[in-house]
Amino acid sequence: MKIKKNYNILAVDTSCDDTCAAVVCNDRVLSNVIASQIEFHKEYGGVYPSLAKRKHQEFIDPTINEALRRAGLRWSEIDALAVTVGPGLAPALEVGIAKIRELAKEYKKPVIAVNHMEGHLLSSFACNSRGQGAFSKIRWQFPILGLLVSGGHTQLVLMNGFSQYQLLGETLDDAAGECFDKVAKMLGLGYPGGPIISELAKSGKPVYDLPVPMASSGDLNFSFSGLKTACLYKLQKIAKPWNRRFYCDFAVSFEKVLVESLMIKLKKAIEQYQPQQIVLGGGVINNLSLRKAARKIAGKYGLKVFQPYHKNLFSDNAAMIGVCALYQARRRDFVKDIDSLDRQPNLNF
Ligand code: KG4
Ligand code: ZN
Repeated sequence: MKIKKNYNILAVDTSCDDTCAAVVCNDRVLSNVIASQIEFHKEYGGVYPSLAKRKHQEFIDPTINEALRRAGLRWSEIDALAVTVGPGLAPALEVGIAKIRELAKEYKKPVIAVNHMEGHLLSSFACNSRGQGAFSKIRWQFPILGLLVSGGHTQLVLMNGFSQYQLLGETLDDAAGECFDKVAKMLGLGYPGGPIISELAKSGKPVYDLPVPMASSGDLNFSFSGLKTACLYKLQKIAKPWNRRFYCDFAVSFEKVLVESLMIKLKKAIEQYQPQQIVLGGGVINNLSLRKAARKIAGKYGLKVFQPYHKNLFSDNAAMIGVCALYQARRRDFVKDIDSLDRQPNLNF
């Protein structure tokens, strides 16, 4: 049995520190509400799981109501509910799952369980309410190579179709975004560090010599903890006080080798798997140097790089979860027993 032509999904994501709810009609984003908790986690220099749980509990109802209001839909017009079941912080995931279970029972709706990283992978397939998205001028063509770079993950995934994924490589330790955040912390720059470092990097010169992680590892995995340690040792040798020039130069030196490491593996994956197109996803793709470098490498192979049509689909959001759920609904991939739906903090492709 096919799903109806205009299929409305209310999606929720509470995998980390953003309380997210969205409504999509097929692949069109009708609303995408993100209640950020950054202000509350700042003083810990990272996400504090039990605080994230409490804040999700506080924010979840207003966020869902706002998503419905902005979409201009009533509960009776929602066809299905979607929720992120992993990967993510267990106490945080729990809040979204419990809420969706409650709503599914109250409004008698089917539920779709979504992989957060599949959401990032499919974020470029989202369209705005007029149907315009990354793929509206050029149609997608499989296989598509996905580079997913976030605070918790760094992955290369080959997509042979919706639901047909092959994890080609991932980080063996810290994620790229986590490395940005930790190096920013060493520099005393605050949290999250990625946006601060990338802003400083714009005015710097890459004069500090840092190692390019995993440059000759031969596989498609990443590793960023060595770079983090190299930054720490380098910083211990540089006398304080540090001036603005120093911050900018260090930021760009760091950003350059991190991006280079990602690009070495992207190039290797292109050569090995010969994709038709490339998609980017995850909060770190906010970084302009990364996006430019990816376009440059892909261009050498005659490939186009696609990214979500709006920045609020780069970082964590529920619209990407809704889009992912649409393709699952089309293959009737619904949760069979809502009571046994559980969080999967280490879920992978
Ligand atoms: O995808 P995301 O919102 O959350 C996770 O699923 O992890 O990614 C958040 C990460 C943080 O580590 C943040 O520092 C990083 O994305 N980030 C950036 C930039 N903007 C956000 N990293 C580098 N440059 C940026 N402009
Ligand atoms: Zn994410």
